Amino acid sequence: MVPQFSGIHVAIIMDGNGRWAQARGMARPFGHRAGAQAVRRAVEAARRLGVGTLTLYAFSSDNWKRPGKEVSGLMRLFRAFLAGETARCVENGIRLQVVGRRDRLSMPLLRSIEAAEKATASCTEMRLRVAVDYSARDSLLGAAAMAEGKELSREDFSRLIAIMNHDPLPVRDVDLLIRTGGEQRVSDFLLWEIAYAELLFLPLMWPEFTGGELESALRQYSTRERRFGALLATAATAAAAAG
Ligand code: FPP
Repeated sequence: MVPQFSGIHVAIIMDGNGRWAQARGMARPFGHRAGAQAVRRAVEAARRLGVGTLTLYAFSSDNWKRPGKEVSGLMRLFRAFLAGETARCVENGIRLQVVGRRDRLSMPLLRSIEAAEKATASCTEMRLRVAVDYSARDSLLGAAAMAEGKELSREDFSRLIAIMNHDPLPVRDVDLLIRTGGEQRVSDFLLWEIAYAELLFLPLMWPEFTGGELESALRQYSTRERRFGALLATAATAAAAAG
């Protein structure tokens, strides 16, 4: 346990499964399966290091544009993950939530999501949020439509975003956003929640990600000077206000 990371929100864009597989002469689904192993390592390490919320970008709303076989393989992998990991989440006090649209997911996947969320609903040690059919811009548009022109506080707007994402509670702002795979972009992920996030772009491919990589990312994060627009002397107050 590294106490200074206690409770922070880490979000990860898990990129590079396909390239990792292709570099080994294998098809992309092989990379996604290896990516699922890396997810297990990341969750285990996050819990051990005291991370409060871990949000993983598993499938963006734009990923529907991929070949049908790749999409169905990913959906099967998500179901297998939920079925296989729910008991471990309960054991470790991890509340599992799937965030994003639900109306385009298959019935069996929806049932697995509901079962995992129900089984882990009273877990309080860490929140694990898996983003599936997720688009930050779509959730912002939906939240704005729900606001119906009313003047809202940032907290109220965050609550509307949570409703759009089927998230039972609004999430704290992201503290650290990590992207693997060597690209340096945010790809429609958590655009509202990353307003003051520290960004870390790693060259390694997602299947290569280990608990040690997360620990080293958190150590880098702890050296960053976060000011939230204030001067350093007042940054702690500003951080508290940012939630
Ligand atoms: C992006 O890399 C990755 C995805 C679109 C899928 C992410 C899925 C996983 C990590 C596996 C399973 C997840 C869970 C939650 C069980 P890419 O495949 O587009 O890689 P590329 O940029 O090298 O083509």
